[in-house]
Amino acid sequence: MGMVGNSLSATSITTNLETRFIGQKVIYYPSLTSTMEVAKREAHQGAAEGTVIIADEQTAGKGRMKRVWLSPTGSIALSVILYPDVTYLPSLVMLASLAVVHSIEAVTGLKAQVKWPNDVLINGKKVCGILVESEVRRNIVGYAILGIGINVNLRLADFPEILPIATSLSDELGREVLRLDLVRRLLVEIERLYLALPAGGTIYEEWRDRLVTLGKRVSVKWGTTRYEGMAESVARDGSLLLRHSDGSLTKIVAGDVTLRD
Ligand code: BTN
Repeated sequence: MGMVGNSLSATSITTNLETRFIGQKVIYYPSLTSTMEVAKREAHQGAAEGTVIIADEQTAGKGRMKRVWLSPTGSIALSVILYPDVTYLPSLVMLASLAVVHSIEAVTGLKAQVKWPNDVLINGKKVCGILVESEVRRNIVGYAILGIGINVNLRLADFPEILPIATSLSDELGREVLRLDLVRRLLVEIERLYLALPAGGTIYEEWRDRLVTLGKRVSVKWGTTRYEGMAESVARDGSLLLRHSDGSLTKIVAGDVTLRD
């Protein structure tokens, strides 16, 4: 899109970044298969906590449930390496979606929402996807990687396959957004929320209150199973509680939600 000053680099992200560890080390690639792959390799080699892998473009971006994630130039694709206590793992998805919501609101003024479990929407359309992958052995976290993909400066009209369900910040705003500002703000937010985890409570509560899903009739697909019901609430571990028409309740750990009304 060639907007002057809208390029990313490791130094432009780290310089005077007001964090203690998130984003203090950034590894930048103009083009990469997937930041998740590099982040895992770096984590295995003992990368410092908070190390960020970021790419201008991914050629094999990974989505949830083995889907492909489109991330052409103009989007943000990054992964953050963390070494949290195992008890914080379920909170990472909530933390990542809130950090994205806060930074989008701060940088663009657009109002963002969360769709269970971890899609960020603007005006009902997906603007960001989050993928958390971790390695846990005997209850010890080897690593956890937060993967965040945001449609920033994209014309969705150029991507007809996702046009009906997706949007971008530039399409919503009618102008381009400085990716650097958004990335830096996002890293500050991630650290703030991550450091707040031991205090408990607040991240879960804010995530729950931001969910557009609750109180709605939904259909949830997980593998080959489909559940229908009223999205009643979410548990502290992030799972969704679905009330069926016969009064029974199902607890759903993962899945794809379609809103019915
Ligand atoms: C989803 O909604 O299915 C999750 C999409 C996650 C995409 C991000 S982009 C940065 C990181 N690298 C990847 O390959 N995937 C995640």
